[in-house]
Amino acid sequence: MRLQNKVAIVTGAGSGFGRGIAETFAREGARIVVGDINEATGRETVAQIQAAGGQAHFVAVDVASAASMDRLREQALAHYSALHIVVNNAGATHRNRPMLEITEAEFDRIYAINVKSIFLSAQSFVPHFRRQGGGVFVNIASTAAIRPRPGLTWYNGTKGAVVTTSKSMAAELGPDRIRVNCVNPVIGATGLLTEFMGQPDTPENRAKFVAGIPLGRFSTPDDVANACLYLASDEAAFITGVCLEVDGGRCL
Ligand SMILES: NC(=O)c1ccc[n+]([C@@H]2O[C@H](COP(=O)([O-])OP(=O)(O)OC[C@H]3O[C@@H](n4cnc5c(N)ncnc54)[C@H](O)[C@@H]3O)[C@@H](O)[C@H]2O)c1
Repeated sequence: MRLQNKVAIVTGAGSGFGRGIAETFAREGARIVVGDINEATGRETVAQIQAAGGQAHFVAVDVASAASMDRLREQALAHYSALHIVVNNAGATHRNRPMLEITEAEFDRIYAINVKSIFLSAQSFVPHFRRQGGGVFVNIASTAAIRPRPGLTWYNGTKGAVVTTSKSMAAELGPDRIRVNCVNPVIGATGLLTEFMGQPDTPENRAKFVAGIPLGRFSTPDDVANACLYLASDEAAFITGVCLEVDGGRCL
């Protein structure tokens, strides 16, 4: 088991990639804190992990709130008395449409959930990782950061910020033995799909997006989870500051 004796928080683990990451980490021996703003779906993830024989605990969190992120750390430590891995996965987008149609409120919301969350996560968890002599962050950015699609301009910018911030964190936190890496998924059929496409979820519309992916399909939660598993595990002990594309060749 590749994450035996580890405790991992996965934000946004009630759905999509986050649920896949939580399930994969649990299968590999980690004890999981499922953090999500949606209590019903977060508890479903916990139930699925437990039904498969794993250990998981739900904590309600809004990753855009400092007080909420602090509570996430406190409750994770209270429950497991340890914490080694934080996957900053929770994210949001504006609907795919021309950039000037996005409202200021939408802009503020996605920057709060996608970017401020990384700041708050650092504020909350770096002191703990420093005290224990190390730790791991895996941040879910996107191919949007490096090969942006039209219609998602402000979302693309949030993910660019996640990539650059992660690299800078890696440089600054290396001496503390804190590793920081990103995973960049290409489009996948999660809760955000119709927002990313900006059109109904039909086979014809999906085909337009698949056309730009050399391996000829969307990414899946398993694809993303397996990349996160490697980066979170001790196999990646000397890997920090990388952004691993999980994109079937989209960014070539
Ligand atoms: N699906 C894609 O095509 C795609 C591609 C690249 C990157 N991503 C990124 O993957 C990550 C996961 O998204 P997904 O595609 O699985 O979508 P999803 O909608 O299926 O899952 C997102 C989860 O985050 C939770 N969440 C939203 N706001 C939150 C908040 N403020 N606090 C806590 N939890 C919150 C939601 O309740 C949900 O469970 C996001 O960061 C997204 O930007 C997605």
